[in-house]
Amino acid sequence: MRKFPTNIATGDAFCNRVAKRKLLTQYIKNGMHTVIVAPRRYGKTSLVNQVLLESKLPCCILELTMATSVKDVEHMISRKVGELLQSILPKTKKAKSAILDLFKTFNPELILSAAGQKLVLHLKDEHSDSVTNISELLLKLDESAKQLKKRVVVVFDEFQELSEIKDHVLEAGIRHAMQYAESTSYVFSGSNRHMLQSMFNDKNRPFYNSCEVIKLERIEQSEHESFIQKAAVERFDKKIANRTLSRIFKLSELHPSYVNRICGHFWLTDKYPTYNAVNQYWDDFIESRRSEFARDVLSLSKNQRRLLKHLAISPEKQPSSQAVCQAISISEASLRQALKKLSLLDYIYKDKEGLYRVLDPALKFYIESTSK
Ligand SMILES: Nc1ncnc2c1ncn2[C@@H]1O[C@H](COP(=O)(O)OP(=O)(O)OP(=O)(O)O)[C@@H](O)[C@H]1O
Ligand SMILES: [Mg+2]
Repeated sequence: MRKFPTNIATGDAFCNRVAKRKLLTQYIKNGMHTVIVAPRRYGKTSLVNQVLLESKLPCCILELTMATSVKDVEHMISRKVGELLQSILPKTKKAKSAILDLFKTFNPELILSAAGQKLVLHLKDEHSDSVTNISELLLKLDESAKQLKKRVVVVFDEFQELSEIKDHVLEAGIRHAMQYAESTSYVFSGSNRHMLQSMFNDKNRPFYNSCEVIKLERIEQSEHESFIQKAAVERFDKKIANRTLSRIFKLSELHPSYVNRICGHFWLTDKYPTYNAVNQYWDDFIESRRSEFARDVLSLSKNQRRLLKHLAISPEKQPSSQAVCQAISISEASLRQALKKLSLLDYIYKDKEGLYRVLDPALKFYIESTSK
C-alpha cells in the first residue's frame, strides 16, 4: 500500500495505535460488540480495517453512506452476508447444504462466475418486512458461524445514517440480531460523532449501553516521528531535518489526515521535504480549499463565527468566561449557545490539556490568515 494515503490506511501505511488495536482485537475475539468514536478523519475506518486484516477473521463491512432506504440496507446486508457466508462455507457437499438449508427462505444460489464461486441470497417478495428480513439474515449468519465453530465480524461504518432512515425500527432490528449473537462480533463506527453517540448513549434508543466504546485521540508525536523517519530513510536515504518535521507537526497539529496529506505529497512526487517546501505546499493546499472553508464559515451564525475566530487565534480553557465575552462582545448566554453548537458540529474540541481549539488545523490556518 502507498505510504501516507489520503484514504484508508492499512498494512505498511498504518501508524501505531498499538493499544487500541489490541483492545479492539480482544473485544472482537471475545464476542464483545464495539462502537468506535472519534471526530472526523481521525482514523476510525483505518483502525477497523487494520484490525480485521491482522485478526484474519471472516468479516463483512457494511458502509451505509449511500443507503437511503430500508430496502437499500436489506439489499446490502443480503449481498454482504452472502459473500461472508461463501467465504466460510465448508467443502463437503453435505456440510455445505446443511448451512445453505438455514437460508432456504432466501433461496440461496451458488453461481459460478469468472471470479469464482459466488453465493447469492435472494430477497423475499416485496411484501415481506425488510426489517424482519435484515434481522433474520444476521441471525442466520450467526447460526452458520456457530455450527461451523467460527467467529465472524460484522462492521457497520457510517452507522449514524441508519437513524435517518426509519425512526428507530431499523436500529431495533439490528439490535435484536446483535443481542442474540453468539459467534458474531459487531463493530460500529461513523463520521458523525454526535449522531453516533446519541444512538448509543440515549436511554430511549435501541443501542443504548449495548457496546464497548473505543475513543480515538490523535496519534502521539513520537509515534508519528519514528514512523515518518523510517519511511524517509527508505524513500530518500536520509531522515527529515528536525526543523522540517516540527513544521509538519505544527501545521498538521498531529491530525492524522493532515500529517498524511503533507507527507503524502512529498512521497508521491518523490521530493525530499524541506522546511520551505513544506510551507509552500501548505499554503497552496489552503489556497485550494479557500472556497470550501469560506462556505463552511459562512454557514455559521455571527456569534458562532466570532467565537470560532477567537479560538482559532487563542485557544481557551474557559471559553465561556467573562473575559472571552468581553473580548468578542457577546453575552454569556449567546456565547454558551455558540460554544455548544460549534462543539456539536465538530468545529471545535477540547484537547488533552483542556483547551478548546479549532478541530481542523487547515480551517484554523485559513481563519488566521483571513483575520490578519
Ligand atoms: N493509524 C493511521 N496511520 C496512518 N494514517 C492514518 C491512520 N489513521 C488515519 N490515517 C489517515 O487519516 C485519514 C483519515 O483516516 P480514516 O478514513 O480511517 O478516518 P475516519 O475517522 O474513518 O474518517 P471519516 O470520519 O471521514 O469516516 C486518512 O488519510 C488515513 O490514511
Ligand atoms: Mg470512516
